[in-house]
Amino acid sequence: MRIEGSHVLLTGASSGIGAALATELTSRGAKVVGVSRRGDVRADLADAADRARAWDEALARLDRVDILINNAGVGLYQPSWRAPDDLVRRMFEVNFFAALDLTRRAVPPMRERRQGLVVNVASIASKVTLPWFTLYSASKAALEAHTRGLRIELRGSGVGAMLVCPGYVKTKFQASVLAGEVPPRLAHAKQFASTPEKVARAVADGIERGARTVLVPTVAGWGFVAASKVLPKLIDARMAAMMEDDDD
Ligand SMILES: NC(=O)c1ccc[n+]([C@@H]2O[C@H](COP(=O)([O-])OP(=O)(O)OC[C@H]3O[C@@H](n4cnc5c(N)ncnc54)[C@H](OP(=O)(O)O)[C@@H]3O)[C@@H](O)[C@H]2O)c1
Repeated sequence: MRIEGSHVLLTGASSGIGAALATELTSRGAKVVGVSRRGDVRADLADAADRARAWDEALARLDRVDILINNAGVGLYQPSWRAPDDLVRRMFEVNFFAALDLTRRAVPPMRERRQGLVVNVASIASKVTLPWFTLYSASKAALEAHTRGLRIELRGSGVGAMLVCPGYVKTKFQASVLAGEVPPRLAHAKQFASTPEKVARAVADGIERGARTVLVPTVAGWGFVAASKVLPKLIDARMAAMMEDDDD
């Protein structure tokens, strides 16, 4: 899909990957409107009424949406068996239901024009469940399943769907979780994280070449996914070790 001249609705453009993506897409000639609590269009995407208002406001500014990028997301570092229900539901609202809601608004006019793209920013956690992030992984796995099915539903319509699965990225994401704290060993791994600019370039390149899935970092990301399928016990053990305290 051509970025130059396209009109883009981007959620979560106020920080991290979304902010880098807004800069990247604008530099490639797109008109971008960001939607988030601190965005061009302000909305709490966990709230259905706010989402409806934000869609109308963004559409009024853009006139049409050629590319919808569902990037806003939030995490929750709590064991699945004791995470508070209200926080779990809030996370699913932002990570899954907001993306579904905006997609359902964006797709019918895209189908009429026989052109458009939905980009969903999931995570490597949608492909390999991260135990410090079990329910976050579940929300992103739901988003991945929706993206895969949507692509097939829309086959032949001129409208596509692309999945983005970043690994660890240097943003405020870990500090913005709804509750809990990053395991210490994982915090140390931040030095190996990708930059948001690298993810933004990979997403923009993926849009332009019509990619199905964009993993960043590509080789290490697919290697990790493959290892989790071929050597599941080993990967489970390595992830359990990541959750131990440093002095264990
Ligand atoms: N960083 C990573 O390691 C990593 C890895 C894999 C996937 N991801 C995914 O990448 C996406 C972007 O994350 P990031 O790393 O760039 O994190 P970030 O810097 O924390 O940015 C998150 C964005 O989501 C928006 N957002 C969060 N809750 C919202 C709500 N209730 N309503 C509206 N907007 C909301 C925030 O905007 P406001 O605060 O203005 O509302 C912000 O712009 C997320 O979907 C995340 O799950 C991140």
